[in-house]
Amino acid sequence: MISTRQAKLSLDSKGPTVKTRITELFGIEHPIIQGGMHYVGFAELASAVSNAGGLGIITGLTQKTPKDLANEIAKCRDMTDKPFGVNLTFLPTVMSPDYPGYIKAILEGGVRIVETAGRNPQPYLPALHQAGVKVIHKCTSVRHALKAETIGCDAVSVDGFECGGHPGEDDIPNMILLPRAAEELKIPFVSSGGMADARSLVASLAMGAEGMNMGTRFIATKEAPVHENVKQAIIAASELDTRLVMRPLRNTERVMNNAAVERLLEKEKELGVDLKFEDIIEEVAGVYPRIMMEGDMDAGAWSCGMVAGLIHDIPTCKELIDRIMREAEALIQGRLRGILEGNLDTQPTAAQ
Ligand SMILES: Cc1cc2nc3c(=O)[nH]c(=O)nc-3n(C[C@H](O)[C@H](O)[C@H](O)COP(=O)(O)O)c2cc1C
Repeated sequence: MISTRQAKLSLDSKGPTVKTRITELFGIEHPIIQGGMHYVGFAELASAVSNAGGLGIITGLTQKTPKDLANEIAKCRDMTDKPFGVNLTFLPTVMSPDYPGYIKAILEGGVRIVETAGRNPQPYLPALHQAGVKVIHKCTSVRHALKAETIGCDAVSVDGFECGGHPGEDDIPNMILLPRAAEELKIPFVSSGGMADARSLVASLAMGAEGMNMGTRFIATKEAPVHENVKQAIIAASELDTRLVMRPLRNTERVMNNAAVERLLEKEKELGVDLKFEDIIEEVAGVYPRIMMEGDMDAGAWSCGMVAGLIHDIPTCKELIDRIMREAEALIQGRLRGILEGNLDTQPTAAQ
């Protein structure tokens, strides 16, 4: 049994396995999750991550209707017999999507893991829990993580300021946020935001997380069903190439810089506190299909993490996850043990 906030590393002929409360909760081999991503988290990516021993996640709202989500779940089930999840993002909009319909599709599709994000998922927890679904809520602050614990979420994904997508308004990077979460939470949590490789995993475990969630890193994989231009843009980008947009609307999003983002930021500067969503609608609304499917890289603002600076290749999901696990072992057994033993030759390699 894995007790509170412990990770058990064991080695066998198949390579290292890291067992934590997260791997046990979700029934997965490796403590690595692919976060929901609009127009990226389709069955192709989710199944590839799950087949590689991680937890793949289909993005619920990318499917236009609950019926479409039901079809995507069925497709994913044909592509893997491993556990996978569905992301449900609760948007701060007046015209709410048909959440009860999406939840029905999830339950009828036999999905047993849901990643929630955005607004408080409390209204939907009873239906999910009654059906035996485990819920991991994505939070950008300790207070929201504690709230998620209080309302009965099974785990949380703690998303630092580095993350692609919506980092919230507190601007606390993971070096502080993760240990703070460990100080306060009883339920298990995974790190999220800025995670790319074995170093990220080992550091996350050291800071009290029991696994890690990656977004941007999984876009630059062979199976991610997005246009090649998107993958190349991530590889070409450095850690300096993201921007924060929609700060004046308190709906901050970290995105890849491009011509549309520069136009948007110019409008934000000009309009200041008078900025309204309608002023920037052209740069943010409905742009994902043009970017992700057609590869029109200047079509608008698209979420991307600072971690782009650490992404230099396009492996398969299996190559990526196997590499992370293999190098995590080398990092712990080699570099960290070497440091404890006073071995000054234990220099990090390029990936450590
Ligand atoms: C292109 C893209 C789209 C995203 N869309 C969503 C989404 O629809 N819902 C959600 O909860 N998170 C979304 N995210 C956030 C990710 O699930 C994850 O939390 C984040 O990418 C972690 O940071 P990283 O990119 O540094 O790994 C998105 C991220 C990216 C990069």
